[in-house]
Amino acid sequence: MSTHVIHPEVSRVAPAGFEEMLVRRGERSGVTIAIAVHSTALGPALGGARLWHYATTEEGIADAQGLARAMTYKAAAAGLLLGGGKGVICAPTTHPEGGLRRAMLLDFGDAVESLGGRYVTAEDVGTGAADMAVIAERTAHVVGLPDERGGSGDPSPVTARGVLAALRACLEHRFGSPSPAGVRVCVVGAGHVGGRLAALLAEAGAEVTISDLDPSRRVLADRLGAAWIDPAEAILADCDVLAPCALGGVLDAPTVARLRCRIVCDAANNVLADDRLAPVLARREIVYAPDFIANAGGLINVYAELHQLDHQAVTDLVDGIGSTIGLILEAADRHGTTPLAEAQALAQRRLGAAVPT
Ligand SMILES: NC(=O)c1ccc[n+]([C@@H]2O[C@H](COP(=O)([O-])OP(=O)(O)OC[C@H]3O[C@@H](n4cnc5c(N)ncnc54)[C@H](O)[C@@H]3O)[C@@H](O)[C@H]2O)c1
Repeated sequence: MSTHVIHPEVSRVAPAGFEEMLVRRGERSGVTIAIAVHSTALGPALGGARLWHYATTEEGIADAQGLARAMTYKAAAAGLLLGGGKGVICAPTTHPEGGLRRAMLLDFGDAVESLGGRYVTAEDVGTGAADMAVIAERTAHVVGLPDERGGSGDPSPVTARGVLAALRACLEHRFGSPSPAGVRVCVVGAGHVGGRLAALLAEAGAEVTISDLDPSRRVLADRLGAAWIDPAEAILADCDVLAPCALGGVLDAPTVARLRCRIVCDAANNVLADDRLAPVLARREIVYAPDFIANAGGLINVYAELHQLDHQAVTDLVDGIGSTIGLILEAADRHGTTPLAEAQALAQRRLGAAVPT
């Protein structure tokens, strides 16, 4: 465990359970940059660069730590040779542009470089492929570069394919067939991932219903021959599969008690407001595909860039999401536990196996 003290006024000690915690003030921008390296047991700690306007610096640091820990589990459960980390850039405004944005990204690149490859950064909330290209001016430890720079580009098509693989495994477990044909699926949030998922499902013959806060997404429903449902009603729609593809935390206790679906399979990170809702879903006989496995396609996409994997290798890893979900659902039934508990146990076994005794 080590602490990098670059500018003493904002230095921090790595908290228990973390390998490293770097906090520094960017020399060009003056903003606080925090990078949490949770684990490198399986490989370099990979996790996006979140550019966000936090109420306090402490909130940004806590966000980096929580997200870094989650990345360790996501990579381990997906069977990737990656650890977990996360970077945050505590922006002074919500959408910084121009010279300030560039200065913050270059400062972030220097911070990444100072970790010597133990942390590899990528896109996250508030950053995109063009930002990764700026960060790459200061460090080689960056993925998610634009296509024209040899990067993996937009991860959402791979994420959507992974969610579909998870969904098929859930269908097989619940109804005895993986085929989405004739299955009623409600996709809540028809953005990059949800829109693609809806299209794949429609192509596979599912009865798709779409919802989005943005009414212009209705065009997609019309194009796919899908139904449209008001966002206020979508989560409680009567359907076979609920696929939340918007923000996390949408399934809280009152909502879980009233769900009318048989399967929850989603792209949104942390869709359960509280892990303790997993047994409630199980008691209601609602099959749940843990999101950190179902949505691992995005991570697989940048992993492929890091290791220069070919198309077939990526396809195998994405299809592996379906196999993993199938094994987890069977194990949960066998042990009388929940899919979430089995997914966490799987990640812990892989992490444990990677640490020499
Ligand atoms: N993009 C990826 O590859 C990827 C990978 C892993 C996880 N995820 C997660 O999947 C989710 C979707 O990601 P995305 O890239 O498609 O985002 P996006 O911003 O492109 O799409 C989200 C959509 O949800 C809609 N929305 C927001 N709140 C809603 C609500 N209450 N009801 C209905 N619609 C609502 C938005 O209008 C938007 O169209 C996020 O939680 C993200 O963290 C994405």
